[in-house]
Amino acid sequence: MAKISQIVPRLDMKVAFITGGAQGIGETTARLFVKHGAKVVIADIQDDLGQIVCEDIGLDKALFVHCDVTIESDVENAINVTLLKFGKLDIMVNNAAILDDGKPNILDNDQLTFERVMSVNVTGVFLGTKHAARAMIPARSGSIIMMGSVSGSIGGIISHAYSSSKHALVGLTKNTAAELGQHGIRVNCLSPYFIPSPLTNNYITDHPEKYSKVYSNLKGASLAENDVAEAALFLASDESRYMSGHNLVLDGGFTVINPAFGLFARASPNE
Ligand SMILES: NC(=O)c1ccc[n+]([C@@H]2O[C@H](COP(=O)([O-])OP(=O)(O)OC[C@H]3O[C@@H](n4cnc5c(N)ncnc54)[C@H](O)[C@@H]3O)[C@@H](O)[C@H]2O)c1
Repeated sequence: MAKISQIVPRLDMKVAFITGGAQGIGETTARLFVKHGAKVVIADIQDDLGQIVCEDIGLDKALFVHCDVTIESDVENAINVTLLKFGKLDIMVNNAAILDDGKPNILDNDQLTFERVMSVNVTGVFLGTKHAARAMIPARSGSIIMMGSVSGSIGGIISHAYSSSKHALVGLTKNTAAELGQHGIRVNCLSPYFIPSPLTNNYITDHPEKYSKVYSNLKGASLAENDVAEAALFLASDESRYMSGHNLVLDGGFTVINPAFGLFARASPNE
């Protein structure tokens, strides 16, 4: 059996750009990509936090760029900085997103909040994909990853705005994969189940009963940020070289089973 030290890094010589990489899933993904030989650019609006993460990773391997994904000139500039610093772009992870407070009655939902969520979660991903494609098309290769969610496949589990935005990403993934395949660029969506994080903490606090009673199909297992990072690593690496337009759902079977009706025994809550 190969020793760990003999395992070839899966992203050797690759350059990755991760939006929303100052914390959470984006940060964990950045750290894993660097472990596998990549150089990473973290693009976020949390400048101090993003800079600290990059310094901790090592400034020869990680670079922080201020970038609000809803502002095209910010995204354009951040990709240009990446090309200047590292000379190319192989991997784009469109990870930045926000979550509104999810009022259970649509009559209490306001247009401004809905549009803000769509702006970060959809327009931001469109802009990231557009400018990543600008850098990747001349190289005739690249892997673009959209960070989706199980709420992009099923309804009723989170706010209207967030669920709409994650459904939209599945469509954007398919459409951009259809276009960019001619340039050798793959586009895939990665859709994790719920993980406690700064993004979801308010949700858990507001509705603890929803999450403690949730049906888990995998006995004894719960999803962690590193599991998402490992799936992103697969989509980023050449191991997934024939995969494009796909929505990789990382949910322990949650979205394919309707717990209201079934033949098999299930893991009970908290197992
Ligand atoms: N945590 C979960 O349960 C969960 C589940 C499924 C999918 N996701 C998705 O994973 C991704 C990361 O989630 P997380 O839990 O790590 O969230 P998080 O809130 O911890 O991190 C999100 C990051 O995005 C940044 N960001 C927000 N708005 C931005 C903007 N306009 N421009 C640039 N950066 C911006 C934030 O500063 C933050 O660093 C998101 O796309 C989220 O929808 C999360």
